[in-house]
Amino acid sequence: MTPMPVNPAGSPLKGIRGQLLTFKADPFLYNEKECYDYYTDALVVIRDGHIIEVGDYKDVAPKYPDLKDVETYTDSIIMPGFIDCHVHYVQSSMIGSFGDTLLNWLDRYAFPTEAKFRDKAFADEVAHEFMKQLLEQGTTTANVFSTTFATSVDALFEESERYDTRMITGKVLQDRNLPDSLKDESAEESILESERLLKKWHHRGRQLYAIIPRFAPTSTPRQLELAGELYQRYIDQGVYMHTHLDEMQSEIDWVTQLFPDVDNYTDVYKKYGLVDKRSVMAHCCIVREEEWQTLHECQCGVAHCPSSNLFLGDGEFRYWEAKEQSRPVRVGMGTDVGGGTNFSIPRQLGEAYKVAMLQMRSLDAVKSFYLATRGGAEALHLENTIGSIAPGYEADIAVLDLKPSEFAAWRMKYTGNIFERLFVLMTLGLNNMNKATYVAGRKVYDRSRDNKWMYAAEIDASADVKPAKEQKSR
Ligand code: GUN
Ligand code: ZN
Repeated sequence: MTPMPVNPAGSPLKGIRGQLLTFKADPFLYNEKECYDYYTDALVVIRDGHIIEVGDYKDVAPKYPDLKDVETYTDSIIMPGFIDCHVHYVQSSMIGSFGDTLLNWLDRYAFPTEAKFRDKAFADEVAHEFMKQLLEQGTTTANVFSTTFATSVDALFEESERYDTRMITGKVLQDRNLPDSLKDESAEESILESERLLKKWHHRGRQLYAIIPRFAPTSTPRQLELAGELYQRYIDQGVYMHTHLDEMQSEIDWVTQLFPDVDNYTDVYKKYGLVDKRSVMAHCCIVREEEWQTLHECQCGVAHCPSSNLFLGDGEFRYWEAKEQSRPVRVGMGTDVGGGTNFSIPRQLGEAYKVAMLQMRSLDAVKSFYLATRGGAEALHLENTIGSIAPGYEADIAVLDLKPSEFAAWRMKYTGNIFERLFVLMTLGLNNMNKATYVAGRKVYDRSRDNKWMYAAEIDASADVKPAKEQKSR
């Protein structure tokens, strides 16, 4: 397939105006007030998919007399697009399936559903719906599990390419302890297939490739060894490794039985060369100190997936362990759909707060929205590219509605500052709280447009026929 040309002629200036919040450092490690920029009335100036300037409207606007295409948002907060560090798009059609334990739930629902992805038409249908869900929730980058079949990888990257989103996925490597319908036929062939897909998709437009052993129990030692070799061959080209780690006790016990010669779960992956600077580990609920040390030293990313952990009764993530000052670990949020119960990163924050409270800690809105944006970018080693609204960054932006329901609008009257409002929003967890999503500067999702979702090429085509005009408060 030839990639779709996206705006080859370059785009004119575009502006987004309104209240704005963006992070520049980790509030778990530094004084919170120094970690963000907040503007009551900001102007973001975008050209060719990148942010060229952001600041107070009154200071920035006079510098751009030619800037006519400005969208102004009221009762809203403009933020970097959310980053979902761990999600299974192939489980979208089984979200909300009754479960008892993780391992039974995988057998009963996840594996049979994923086996259907051999069929490209099914994969296309699910990828289409998945991308719509992400964009509706304001998520602009996700680190995604596909499944065994190349069809599942192609379907997601093709759909992502149509929106020009930055997505990370790859073939899932799994050659034991799962049904034949989903199992790789041989470790060697699975790695060849993964490398073929890597060469096809990595850095094609904004797409990035990940080597994905599902988790240690579903790979033979031989497959892990070959996966590690493949990862090490491509790591300097920005390829990822993505897997599950330390999600629940029964899983950890199983790993200990399968790999008796290794000290802990993290060391299983380490032994095979799979723990390195672009390794992203989902869950990390029950982690030993020596494992945190390894994750810190190797600069790994961790995806905190609270709604899934609660739904599957896994374990409780301990952010204070992850963020221990002497050896902090990079942490972002993950929905882990279909273990997670929705696609919204702000709603994950509400669950993260409760998981912390169950352990007599709490998470404020500053730390929470950092995790949802820049924290995710740091976990993916993309913090110089996405996750902040600053000059040079890719223009991936969400616009949250601060009055998404009549009740929320009334409740907001009794809040003091923006962080109190954001805390209410993440706690109420309304599904309709995102007004618009911009991807590389194009508004690919607009809650109030007839055509809510639009592909990049459709937007470019409509811009060619309609002259840009100033749009007013929404
Ligand atoms: N561990 C291995 N596979 C999975 C999965 O699909 N979901 C979750 N939550 N954990 C896993
Ligand atoms: Zn998962």
